[in-house]
Amino acid sequence: MQTFRSDLIEGLSASPKSLSPKWFYDAEGSRLFEQITRLEEYYPTRQETALLRQTIPFWLDLIGPEAVLVELGSGASEKTRILLDAIAGLAAYVPLDISETALQAAASALRADYPHLDIRPVPGDFETLPDLPDDLPSGRRIGFFPGSTIGNLDRDAAIKLLAASRRMLGRNSLFILGVDLIKDRETLEAAYDDAQGVTSAFNMNLLHRANRELGTDFDTNSFRHRAIWNEAEARIEMHLESLRDQTIKLDGHRFRFRAGETLHTENSRKFDRERVVALAEAGGWSLVEMRVSTSPYVALALLRPKE
Ligand code: SAH
Ligand code: AVI
Repeated sequence: MQTFRSDLIEGLSASPKSLSPKWFYDAEGSRLFEQITRLEEYYPTRQETALLRQTIPFWLDLIGPEAVLVELGSGASEKTRILLDAIAGLAAYVPLDISETALQAAASALRADYPHLDIRPVPGDFETLPDLPDDLPSGRRIGFFPGSTIGNLDRDAAIKLLAASRRMLGRNSLFILGVDLIKDRETLEAAYDDAQGVTSAFNMNLLHRANRELGTDFDTNSFRHRAIWNEAEARIEMHLESLRDQTIKLDGHRFRFRAGETLHTENSRKFDRERVVALAEAGGWSLVEMRVSTSPYVALALLRPKE
C-alpha cells in the first residue's frame, strides 16, 4: 500500500522531484483548503456554487426520485447542500474522502441539518475506489465530483477514475463533473498565489506534515511556494522551491536539493469543452449537457454511461 512515507521517499528520489497532492489533506491541510475557498482570488468555489444553484433544477427530472448521491473528494460537503436541498426523496448520501477528519466533521454537520437522510461516509482514496456499502438503497446512483478535483489527476489517472466510477455506479447512473476552464494567466496565477499567503501555507503544510508525521528535518524557511501557469500543458503547477543547497534526511536516506530546485506538489489541469468530452468518452461516459458559469469561467458537465 502507498503511504505518505513510501510516496515521499519515491517522490524525493525521482528527477524532477514530485509528490501526489493527495498528501495535502491532513486535518491542517483540509482546514487551509477551506480557507482557500473563501479567498477573493480563488474564484472556482464561488463560481461553481452559483452555477450549481442555477443548474441543478434543470437536471432534477433526469435524476429522479430515490437517488443515491455518491460524492468523490467531498471535503466539507458544503456544495453538496445545494443538491441535498434540491433533490426531493434522496435515498442516501455517500461522501468519500481521504481526509478522515474532514469526512467525519462533514458527516456530523450534515446529520444535524438533515436528520432524515441516510448518510454513509466512506474514508478512502478515489484512485483505488473502495466498494460502496452493500446495504445501500437500490435507487439510481448519481456520481458527484465537483471542485475540478479531477484536474489534480493526470489524464491516465482521470480516465481510470471515470471508468472505475462507471463500474461502481452502474448502467443506470449519472455523473455530475465540475471542471475549471482555461483562462488568462493573471487570473489563474492569482488564484494559486493569493495575497494573504493562504495557498502558500497550504503548499508548505506538506513539509510541516512530513516533519510532524515522518520525522523529516525540512527547514521550512528555506523553501518557497511557486504557482506557474504552464500554457502548453493547460495546467497550473504548484512547486516548493529550495532557496539554498540543502540535504533532507528521511529513514536513513539523504535527499539533496540544489538552490532553485523544486518539489512539484500539484497540477491543476484546466479544460475546455473538447477536453471534457474527450476525457469523459475515454472514461466510458457521454456528455448529456455542459453548462458554463459567468466569468471567471467554470463548468458543470452532466454525464451518462456510454451505450
Ligand atoms: N469537493 C470539495 C472539496 C475539494 S478539495 C469542493 O469542491 O470544494 C479536494 C478534496 O478531495 C479534499 O477534501 C481532499 O481531502 C480530497 N482528496 C484529495 N485527493 C483524494 C484522493 N486521492 N482520494 C480521496 N479524496 C481525495
Ligand atoms: C482540490 N483542488 C481542485 C484544488 C485546485 O484548485 O486544484 C486544490 C488547490 N490547490 C491550490 N489551491 C487549491
